[in-house]
Amino acid sequence: MCGIVGCVLDKPAAPTIIESIKKLEYRGYDSVGIATLTDKINVKKGSGQIKDVDNAIKLTEIDGNIGIAHTRWATHGIPSKENAHPHCDCEDKISVVHNGIIENFEELKKELTEEGHQFKSDTDTEVIPHLIENYMKEGLNLLKAVQKTVKRLKGSYALAIISTDEPDKIIGARNESPLIVGLSENGNFLASDVPAILKETKRVIFLDDEELIELTKDDVKVMDLDLNIKEKTVETITWTADMAEKGGYAHFMLKEIHDEPQIIKDTLSESANIKEIVNKFKKFKRICFVACGTSYHASLIGEYLIETELGIPTEVILASEFEFFKKTLDDHTLVIFITQSGETADTLKALKIAKEKSETLAIVNVVGSTITRKEGAHHVIYTRAGPEIGVAATKTYLSQLICIYLLVAHMAENDELLNKLEDLSEQTEKLLSKEEQIKEISKKYKYASDFFYIGRGFNYPTALEGALKLKEITYIHGEGYAAGELKHGPLALIDNNIPVVGILPPGPSYGKTYSNLQEIKSRGADLIVLGSKNDKNLNGIEDKLLFDNEIDEKMAPLLYIIDLQLLAYYISVAKGIDPDKPRNLAKSVTVQ
Ligand code: AGP
Repeated sequence: MCGIVGCVLDKPAAPTIIESIKKLEYRGYDSVGIATLTDKINVKKGSGQIKDVDNAIKLTEIDGNIGIAHTRWATHGIPSKENAHPHCDCEDKISVVHNGIIENFEELKKELTEEGHQFKSDTDTEVIPHLIENYMKEGLNLLKAVQKTVKRLKGSYALAIISTDEPDKIIGARNESPLIVGLSENGNFLASDVPAILKETKRVIFLDDEELIELTKDDVKVMDLDLNIKEKTVETITWTADMAEKGGYAHFMLKEIHDEPQIIKDTLSESANIKEIVNKFKKFKRICFVACGTSYHASLIGEYLIETELGIPTEVILASEFEFFKKTLDDHTLVIFITQSGETADTLKALKIAKEKSETLAIVNVVGSTITRKEGAHHVIYTRAGPEIGVAATKTYLSQLICIYLLVAHMAENDELLNKLEDLSEQTEKLLSKEEQIKEISKKYKYASDFFYIGRGFNYPTALEGALKLKEITYIHGEGYAAGELKHGPLALIDNNIPVVGILPPGPSYGKTYSNLQEIKSRGADLIVLGSKNDKNLNGIEDKLLFDNEIDEKMAPLLYIIDLQLLAYYISVAKGIDPDKPRNLAKSVTVQ
């Protein structure tokens, strides 16, 4: 988590760098800081979101054409001004921003403290400027001092470092935390992710682990840890700056939900690529999905599809639990990793384990992310969702589902399923038709303290995902259940204070799920039902979100989730919460 930016420009750096770091706020937003170089290091930092800190201390009013900045998601040390980055050495000649975790910081801090170094924060990061200080005092230049320093660090880091002794450059380093270089006419950039630099340039170098970077206004050198120069490819990004803007919507999340009709079309255009990958597959005896959070829910739908369409034994394992299941991996197993960011630490760790024995496939949104690189998966399918800034995944979830449906349709050579996906794309303009009604419903339910979501079969994962969206952005407790499971315990909780969202598309499961909803209704709960317009049984239910098309239960996960995303969004707004920046969360979870 955390976002870092550095730039060496032919003009004052602060206004550009603060605009850039704002684009990384999805990575963490509990504190922010900037350091620039003039004849000294100038630092401004504070706790809180960037706009609030900027209003209070004017982050852009700071001289210098070279600067580094940081937006934080706290791991070591509470969110506070002292713990906000950048961190400096004892003499304030070296300044560092860091994304990652230094696992051996306690022993390094003890050693440095015994040598007389003064620490001002509780962070793991602060050992870095003090180590560099030591090596520079031995006579090494900044690059060599950073080289020696990173060789002593255990853990993950993306670093940008400046020093008054070498005022024309930034030194960067990467290991297990994302870092890219941006090349522009006005100078050069380092950043955690592409949206930070899209306004300035589309020419990008994706860095790999154990690389060091020397960045000046006119030059960029990428080196290995022994300082051998590495040839790197400059890639051109197709995302536009507008894609990472709100485009007139109140929040990124709402804009991203509204992007979904287009995303369905864009991701369906991956069909030929997916077919090509499928053609390379051998016959697998087992398929295993690995993912976290929303991507885990997309994987569960993959499990239902593969089991029903292909009859291949399939399971879904949480990435953070994967190491407990590694003994059963073999070369007849395909392991599919689903990840929006391609940077989730738990998922990357699981990938490393899986690659030792099995063929791997990543379904990922961020081009150039770690899972797509040489240390990544054997095969890569891109979801075509564009940049997603809201912390709660919305359009990326839908694009993951589209990729999974396409994958299964091609593996099963099921043209009927492919045609149904194409039909969906034609109906996309209707997808957001219930927004006003959802807004109204949300006013009624904003006072609820618990919600249940129930669905059966393909729509059980939709219930889980609806509940996760609610928890993330409204802070209301939401629990997703398989419809048939409620009677095995949770029914004891149902009373007239608990709204229940029932997912009830037409199809073979309809009858049983309908009975489960009746059981709930007769115990006094308020029902919000998602179903078909032609369902006469729903006449007596007050809050219902009905679909024009007779989409069956197999395809329903692709549409019904949009309404559940909107429901969570409008409850969040009604409660006065910023849905783009839910407390304690960050979009890219790069710690295990
Ligand atoms: C989704 O709304 C969450 N922000 C979170 O659960 C997310 O899906 C999870 O952290 C996995 O991220 P990934 O898809 O980037 O791997």
